[in-house]
Amino acid sequence: MFLKNCWYVAALDQELAHGRLLGRTVLGEHLLIYRGESGSVSALNDRCPHRGALLSKGRLEGDGVRCMYHGIKYDGSGKCVQIPGQDMIPPKLRVRSYPIVERGHFLWVWLGDAAKADPALILDLPYLRDPSWKGIPAYLHYKANYLLIVDNLSDFSHLAFVHTQTLGGSEEYAYVSKPTVIERLERGFRVERWHLNSDPPPFHRKVIPDKAAKLDRRNIATMTVPGIFNMETLFAAAGQGKEAASRGGAKEYRNCQFMTPETERTTHFFWSYLNNFEGEDSTVSRTLLESLIEGFMEDKEIIERQQQTLDEDPSFQMLGILADAPLAHFRRVLARLIDLEHSDGATQRPEARSTTPAG
Ligand code: FES
Ligand SMILES: [Fe+2]
Repeated sequence: MFLKNCWYVAALDQELAHGRLLGRTVLGEHLLIYRGESGSVSALNDRCPHRGALLSKGRLEGDGVRCMYHGIKYDGSGKCVQIPGQDMIPPKLRVRSYPIVERGHFLWVWLGDAAKADPALILDLPYLRDPSWKGIPAYLHYKANYLLIVDNLSDFSHLAFVHTQTLGGSEEYAYVSKPTVIERLERGFRVERWHLNSDPPPFHRKVIPDKAAKLDRRNIATMTVPGIFNMETLFAAAGQGKEAASRGGAKEYRNCQFMTPETERTTHFFWSYLNNFEGEDSTVSRTLLESLIEGFMEDKEIIERQQQTLDEDPSFQMLGILADAPLAHFRRVLARLIDLEHSDGATQRPEARSTTPAG
């Protein structure tokens, strides 16, 4: 059960380079995503309505795609524009298309009711369009339900144990730093956590000149449905504490992550980890990318195995601790939105039937 009436990141722009016809499953639906020769992007159902061949195995022609089974051609909106050897095109011979919007390096699709697909609903993360924030967008495929990744990002105490040598730094982080703020939002949560007078964690140490000086570290994370994570991280000289941001000189990161269900058991995981201090030195972004991949592989190993463990015993009930408050709230919010979508659908269906022509 997924929330359908919302935007999901489905691809990175670089995945569509060189006219690639990208076959991608999102929420269990098989999509073809591509950039036409004019530069426009399209998302179509990846099934030729003639005999069901994959359109992603077809051929890009202009802004359209030709199915390479019997050669039928569709335009970027899914309309059939040519049947080799036949002049008459049956109006029903068309492919479902999906609203798709390109924002920075990310392509967002909407799989629900297309009439509700308002691009203004795409979560605006300003650093993704601000050239003073530098980062390299990336992708990982997960063999786990996307909510297990959302759970993981809801509690930073895991940084201490999963990422001791990479993103975390010490087990102390879990003991001495507690969320100072947990805000329950209408579509997610916000958590703020400080770790004062601490050693720089390994990923940060790699990109700063003074590797020994103590730092005040602050993380503010926001999670928004359906699975959009955004964390503002700040490192300032120890002792600056809460005033660090206004005093300047702090080194900051912005972590933007997008969890998109592929199926109930697999997830597309996109991210961009941005920094505000590299200037023209792109080795900082590259080093951070390596550190992030190293850290995310640590999460992936635990979470994919957790998924297998959960699958082995569906009667297993997870037990909550205090730190689970944000993830419990998130799951409640999401469940309510999915329920609402279904009850809306149920009330709208009879009306839709009466206006749809027969056949
Ligand atoms: S299946 Fe695509 S043209 Fe026949
Ligand atoms: Fe992690």
